[in-house]
Amino acid sequence: MSIIVNEERRIFLLQTLHNSYAFGVDDQGLLRHLYWGKKIDAIDDFEMPVLAEVSTNDPVFEITREEFPVYGRLRYKEHCLKVTFADGCREVDYIYENYKIENHKDYDELIITLKDSHYDLYITLHYKVYGDFDLMERSVTLRNASQENMAIEQLQSAQFHIPYENLNFSNVHGHWGAEQQRFVQKVSYGKVVIENRRGISSHNHNPYFILDHDASETQGEVYFGALRRSGNFSGVVEQTPYGETLVQMGLNDHDFCYNLAPGEEFSAPAIICGYTNQGFETMSHHLHHFAQAFILDNDIRPVLYNSWEATGFGVTCEEQLKLAKKAKELGAELFVVDDGWFGERNGIKNGLGDWYVNKQKFPHGIDELIDEVKSLGMMFGIWVEPEMVNPPTKLYKEHPDWIYHFATRVSDTSREQYVLDMTREDVQQFVYQMLDDLLTSHDVDYIKWDANRPISQSNFDRSVWYKHIEAVYDIVKALKKKHPHVLFEACASGGGRIDYGILGIFDDFWTSDNTDACDRLTIQDSYSYIYPIKAMRAWVTDCPNFISNRDIPMRYRFHSAMMGTLGIGCNILKFSDEETKLAQEMIALYKEIRPIVQEGDFYRLENLSEDDYRSYEYLKDTKGLLFVFLSHTRIGHRPLTLKLRGLKKDTRYKLTYGDQEIHKSGAYLMERGIDLRLSGDYASELIFISEM
Ligand code: GLA
Repeated sequence: MSIIVNEERRIFLLQTLHNSYAFGVDDQGLLRHLYWGKKIDAIDDFEMPVLAEVSTNDPVFEITREEFPVYGRLRYKEHCLKVTFADGCREVDYIYENYKIENHKDYDELIITLKDSHYDLYITLHYKVYGDFDLMERSVTLRNASQENMAIEQLQSAQFHIPYENLNFSNVHGHWGAEQQRFVQKVSYGKVVIENRRGISSHNHNPYFILDHDASETQGEVYFGALRRSGNFSGVVEQTPYGETLVQMGLNDHDFCYNLAPGEEFSAPAIICGYTNQGFETMSHHLHHFAQAFILDNDIRPVLYNSWEATGFGVTCEEQLKLAKKAKELGAELFVVDDGWFGERNGIKNGLGDWYVNKQKFPHGIDELIDEVKSLGMMFGIWVEPEMVNPPTKLYKEHPDWIYHFATRVSDTSREQYVLDMTREDVQQFVYQMLDDLLTSHDVDYIKWDANRPISQSNFDRSVWYKHIEAVYDIVKALKKKHPHVLFEACASGGGRIDYGILGIFDDFWTSDNTDACDRLTIQDSYSYIYPIKAMRAWVTDCPNFISNRDIPMRYRFHSAMMGTLGIGCNILKFSDEETKLAQEMIALYKEIRPIVQEGDFYRLENLSEDDYRSYEYLKDTKGLLFVFLSHTRIGHRPLTLKLRGLKKDTRYKLTYGDQEIHKSGAYLMERGIDLRLSGDYASELIFISEM
């Protein structure tokens, strides 16, 4: 049983394979947190601590670890809910009503209902327990059972309490071309805030938290949570003056207000959360396994070719046909036409919104290309940016009021485009219809959905920050219902839309416009802490790389991109015979190993050398892979001792690379490890592991 209740003491104990989470209801009806950590079976050992204020200036609400603190009474700490009622009262004062347990196929759910002591506002807290995955998913639903409106000014998904001070907080920072830059910082007194206020997406921070108690990859306590939401979010970590660290995450209250009408419900996004005392690797495995089991489908992702870096906006049918033939010759399975195929799209200034096939570029229509791609036996994909419009387009001329705007202000363009007001039903209908027509009248298998600017001059409704992305989710869900075979890639100026909100609705992330194979290792490494490898699109592109200006050998570029779902973004028409041959070999190899890459367990191996090595391991069933990279050799030119992980200690393994073959036990490979020396700059090796 994963949910245990002590009725008399009103204590709830949520049990996963290795961990426990406990909270209870005190005699005042307050929901108070009791424990989160390693498994404790004896529910009767949990007691509700007696509340005693430290002083009149430290009221009991401040010192108590609450499951879902609201704004009201003597609370000054971070809270999860703020409501203004129709009469102007700005406090919530809840009372515990009841609980319910539901057993589902994949999880058990504890549902706690709270009610405001005066107003007919119901707050339902959901705890889904995924026992085998050592994870829990929390969410909150509000219901207005009164006859009057309620203004929801803040709604966080959950607050968590960690009984330590001086924890390490990690997340990512970044910007376009430099997404997913992992940082770790000590938490001390005061607050750490990460957030997104852009409405669309953000490269700056990612909606998750990791708090560790001096953990490493394989040891130590880690508390983590990932929000299932794109767009605006906020997360606060606070080491309080009362000997604990609290963390909460949910919808960003910046410029936010949701008008909850009588009879209406409103939910905060779910947050997937967990604890481990086995370090970051176990945290990643739990999240990856969860994503594979409940978020992603079981299909292996195809190798794609995308023409963006090769042709930019200068798309022509003739050249695309040539690229398609060459892509097929190399082994690509999906041919994607990127930006530039529609409207008057000859650059960033025009086209977005006019979603007709450009006649100069495709004189006989786009089916000429699609038919050829299909006859070559490939799938066909196409780029769109449906939430946007360029000012010179027919769409904008006909519907200038369809963009986010304030009548008395000038609307800002960014990348020469406006954002469509996706909260309007007519706009939603237009976007859905445009995509449905595209998918109905053409044989399209893959949509790359881009979004290249944030929202500004948002409309008067302050729930826009919530409703915009809801509309995107709903449109894609409806399209998938009608066109179930179509895969959707989430892109926002590269990796701006990487989160657990969009994943599952979309299938792939475009990880970054930065396709430099060496930079990508940093991006991929950080990405892997939280997100599954199967959703990580990675391309091999031309050198010198357009961002880094670096020249990296093709073999290294392939190895780096083969760590995710492989794509090719080179101008393949310029390939030499030698490059063609190498690309063919690498793509064929990727097809053999991709079940291990896309569905295996992923390990970030420790670099035991002073030199600049990076190594990663994948294991699936009886097979595995090791990717080893040396970007820059340093003076001393040290070899690397590579200690493997996750093997069975008594099983014998064969490791092969080049003409080398090594036979060792799992114990030897994990404890002693193998020695490997790569030399020069941008050296890389792919080592195959198999049980003997
Ligand atoms: C964004 C994407 C790129 C490409 C261009 C097209 O920058 O991240 O991959 O699709 O738009 O304009």
